[in-house]
This record gives sequence, structure tokens and C-alpha cells, in this order.
Amino acid sequence: MNSQPAETGQVTAEFKRAMRRLASTVTIISTADVYGHRYGMTATAVNSLSMDPPSLLICVNHSASIHAPLTGRGRFCVNVLTTEQEDLVDAFSGKVKGDARFQVGEWHNEDSGMPYLEGAQSNLFCDIDSVIPFGTHSVVIGRVTAVRVEEGIRPLIFANGKLGATGSLTGHVRIASNLSTLTQFLPSDLESFLKKHPLIDVHLDEKISTAVVTAVEENAYDLGFVVEGPKTNRLETIPYRDDRLVLAVPAAHPLACKTSVKFAGTLDYDYVGLHTGSQINLQIQRAAAELDQAWRCRMQVHTYDALSAMVQAGLGIGMIPLRMAELYAKAMNIKVIELDETWAHRRHAIVIRSYESLQTAGKRLIDHLSRGSH
Ligand SMILES: Cc1cc2nc3c(=O)[nH]c(=O)nc-3n(C[C@H](O)[C@H](O)[C@H](O)COP(=O)(O)O)c2cc1C
Repeated sequence: MNSQPAETGQVTAEFKRAMRRLASTVTIISTADVYGHRYGMTATAVNSLSMDPPSLLICVNHSASIHAPLTGRGRFCVNVLTTEQEDLVDAFSGKVKGDARFQVGEWHNEDSGMPYLEGAQSNLFCDIDSVIPFGTHSVVIGRVTAVRVEEGIRPLIFANGKLGATGSLTGHVRIASNLSTLTQFLPSDLESFLKKHPLIDVHLDEKISTAVVTAVEENAYDLGFVVEGPKTNRLETIPYRDDRLVLAVPAAHPLACKTSVKFAGTLDYDYVGLHTGSQINLQIQRAAAELDQAWRCRMQVHTYDALSAMVQAGLGIGMIPLRMAELYAKAMNIKVIELDETWAHRRHAIVIRSYESLQTAGKRLIDHLSRGSH
């Protein structure tokens, strides 16, 4: 690297090269004069200045058509573009002239008459505080008086003379998970993932494993978490974690003195079960059918905490994953008993249509989960 003083011409050339390496988010500065004529300009020289007072600065070339109306009116709006708004960049940087620029994109007027772009990542309305001329430009300091913000962060980036997206940083992943995986493993895994990738947007819904498979097949979700059992023919399956089912019984229950029990030895008692179709219910029903015995499921609930509360109240015994049972045993008057059955050991898996079909954000999540799984 050469940091020696150089001739002005050389410095300018090197400055340009250096600035090509400075990535910035593309914005459109918009304003309107008192007659309602609108002006707009593509700009990347936009920076936050201070939080107290909320203020920002923009740099506007004296030769730009927006310069005189902007400084004359004393108010403007910074519209921060999303990756879907690339077509505005050319229109507002010279390709289209005058008010016709506003035919590109969906523009509305704020009460004060300032045009703002609907669907921009954000719109920052500013009153001009000061204008500082410097070289070919004016540095315009604006006090932010109102802000509109859209959900989702997907900035349109300008770097090395090209437009691009921070695809490696941002993105959206839709996840469907069964309750067991969701409660036992996803909180810590998603927490560590989102700490590393704070701009990735994760949407998570709980479903029974069979519904997870269908939803991923139908492309309603990118990733699914299932307890192994349902057929996953059309999907790729990636091993994720293991767990173990145990019995939760009231502290005063006849089984409470045991450390381990065979499933057959529990069938004389009433159960509190999970909702129809859950893998735990299916496993219990299958095991009872193999023993040619009835499973007395007295009530059905949707969550482990409801199940544990019912067990604590003496309404039945229940079967839940060990991690959750241990958690509730600390907080409630219930006892955890090992279930001496091979089927009590279960495998959790990730299902996807294919790794290649995932967006970068989804691939990153898979990579993160595969690294973390045991
Ligand atoms: C990506 C990009 C960023 C720009 N950033 C600025 C800027 O920060 N300030 C500025 O004065 N011009 C900037 N320009 C140039 C103006 O958009 C352009 O010169 C102006 O809109 C043309 O002005 P006109 O209204 O006179 O046609 C930028 C252009 C592009 C393509």
C-alpha cells in the first residue's frame, strides 16, 4: 500500500479508485417547490449526522436540477431504496428528466407536499438546517422531522460502480417445525444464528411433523424440522438432533417411586396426551396397538406446559421429551421417570426440497445447524 503524498491528478484518480471500494446504500432525494413541481435525484452521499437532534447530511451537486428547489424550499425526503427498486436509479440520475422521473415507482405526497416513495425501506422527511458549499457540491444538513419505516432489511447497494444486494448478509427464511424440535433445540440454535446474521429475517411456524413435510414439499416453507417418522420421499433429509421420551407423573402417583418403567406398565393409568397427529401421540398409539392394549388418553392439549400442569394436578400421566420434562420438573410438582423402550429414543431431522434450491440465507442456516448438531 502506498500512502505517500502524490500529485493532485494522481490523488483524484486514486480517490476514485478508493471510493469504488466504499459500498453505500442508494437513496432518492425528493422535494417539491411551493407550486408543487417535484424534483428527485439518485444519491449515495447520505449519512446520519446525530441522534440529538435527529439529523442527517446529504451532498448535492450545484449542477443537479434538484439543487435550487431543494435549498429554496428548505425541506426534502430521503427515500432509502430496496433491492427491488433498481429501476429508479437510472431514471433519477439523468435518464429521465423533470417530473417524468416520478412515473417510475409509486410516489405519494406527504401533508407538506413532499413526494415520498411508497415501498422504500424508509422515508426520512427533513427540514434544512444549514447548507455548506464545498467545491462542486453543497453539504445540506437536514433535521429529521418524520420517518416511515418498512419491515424487512434489503438495502440496494452501490459499490465498485455497480448496483448489488447484500445477499450474503440479508434474506428471509421460512421455517416450519414440530413442537419437540422447536422447544428443545431451536431456541439456542436460532439465537446463535441470528447473532451471527442479524439482518436475516426468520419466520417460524409450529406444525405437526406430517404437516411440516407437506408444507415444505408445497414450497410454503424453505426448511422443516420433523421427528423422524413421516415419509419424506420427495425431500432431502438432514440428520439434526436426538432426544428421548420420558414419563411425567404427579409427585404422589404410584409410579413416582420408580426410576424407569416399561410402557406396558403404564397402561393401567389415565394419560394426558398431546393433540391428534403429533409424533408422540402416534408413537404411543402404535406401541399400545403392538401390545394389543388400549391407551387411555383422558385429555389432549397442544403444549408441554399445559400437559405438565394437567399432570401436576393429578389428572393423568404424560409423555414428553426429557429436556422439557426436566425443565417442568424444576418448576412444578411432577416427577420424571425414564421410559425403558427403544422407541423412546427419537431422531430429529431437517427437511428441505434441495440444498441448491435454497436462497443464500437458507443455505447459511443449514450450514450453521449442521455445524452445531451432534
Ligand atoms: C448511484 C448514484 C449515486 C449518486 N449519488 C449522488 C450524490 O450523492 N450527490 C449528487 O449530487 N449526485 C449523485 N449522483 C448523480 C445524480 O443522481 C445525477 O447527477 C443527477 O440526478 C442528475 O441531475 P439532473 O437532475 O440535473 O439530471 C449519483 C448517481 C448515481 C447513479
